[in-house]
Amino acid sequence: MAIENFESFGLDPILLSKQKEAMDKVKEIVIHHPSFLKIFQEIYKCHMLSQDSPKPECMCLLGDSGTGKSTVLEYYRDKFPRRQEMEGDIIPVLLVELPSGAKPKDVASKILLEMGDPFFDKGTEKSMKARIIHLAEKCDIKLLFLDEFQHVNDSENKRVKSNVADWIKGLVNEIKIPVVLSGIPSAESLFKTNIQLDTRFTNRQRFSPFSYDKYFRAFLKSVDERLPFPASSCLADPELSQKLYYASMGNLRVLMRTIEVATCEAVAANRDNVHENDLYVAFSQLDLSSRPHAVNPFNDDKFNFKVAMIEEGKKKKK
Ligand SMILES: Nc1ncnc2c1ncn2[C@@H]1O[C@H](COP(=O)(O)OP(=O)(O)OP(=O)(O)O)[C@@H](O)[C@H]1O
Ligand SMILES: [Mg+2]
Repeated sequence: MAIENFESFGLDPILLSKQKEAMDKVKEIVIHHPSFLKIFQEIYKCHMLSQDSPKPECMCLLGDSGTGKSTVLEYYRDKFPRRQEMEGDIIPVLLVELPSGAKPKDVASKILLEMGDPFFDKGTEKSMKARIIHLAEKCDIKLLFLDEFQHVNDSENKRVKSNVADWIKGLVNEIKIPVVLSGIPSAESLFKTNIQLDTRFTNRQRFSPFSYDKYFRAFLKSVDERLPFPASSCLADPELSQKLYYASMGNLRVLMRTIEVATCEAVAANRDNVHENDLYVAFSQLDLSSRPHAVNPFNDDKFNFKVAMIEEGKKKKK
């Protein structure tokens, strides 16, 4: 969709398209930080070690919201793109986001939809599973990612929960390809109640939020190098990196969102790089219910990380 000319509403279409272009570039940034590389390697090992194997290597990826689970899965999937051949679609790696509060049929239907089955919502639970197995072979699927695995836990109804877990276990048994389950840490509790699933997913990899250390600064340096500006924004500078850490608490979604919005501000000001004031404006635009007492660390020469944390903790207790 082209950006409309709404100049009479005070909107500048040329500036907006410049901002969109710059923001899109930031959204495309994927940094190969050490945990990202480790998870990528583990997935690749499952993928390769399972080729023509009677017992595929499965894996579970756990991490808090915003730590980068879906990013690594999408990145991996894109390394093995779908293609069309005379006989139909070839899907080397299939990524499916499990729907919320789903019953086995909803999960089956979502998988069929992603496989491109035009009758994705038709049939019984059993016939749908049979179609998934058939299509997995026809589309030459070699690896299946089931993201948002915690949604299996959503249902209050214990029977529904265990039905979905059992259905997934059955699928894993029959499909004969490696499956990667990915979700937030609370998803792990499902393994406690389903021993058969537990013992099939013993390889558990975890993504944690960053700590404030050399890896966080290296991440910022890599982001800075990829920003769509001619000059460095010095994000990894000792003072600025500490402020960026406080603003995000090492959560990549919050960090990158702050940098995306700051990029937009810098483009509007026609700058050669992101200034601290752009980060100030960006952070003031973020409403985080999880941190109602966080102060804006940017543009504050006296900002002290430890003091800010203590003050925030005190306000939280009140
Ligand atoms: N390796 C990375 N390089 C750059 N940015 C990243 C990276 N990983 C994550 N991000 C940023 O963090 C955001 C959130 O990541 P992602 O959606 O992968 O998190 P998630 O763990 O799947 O969260 P949720 O559990 O809420 O689905 C991404 O949109 C991106 O902006
Ligand atoms: Mg995700």
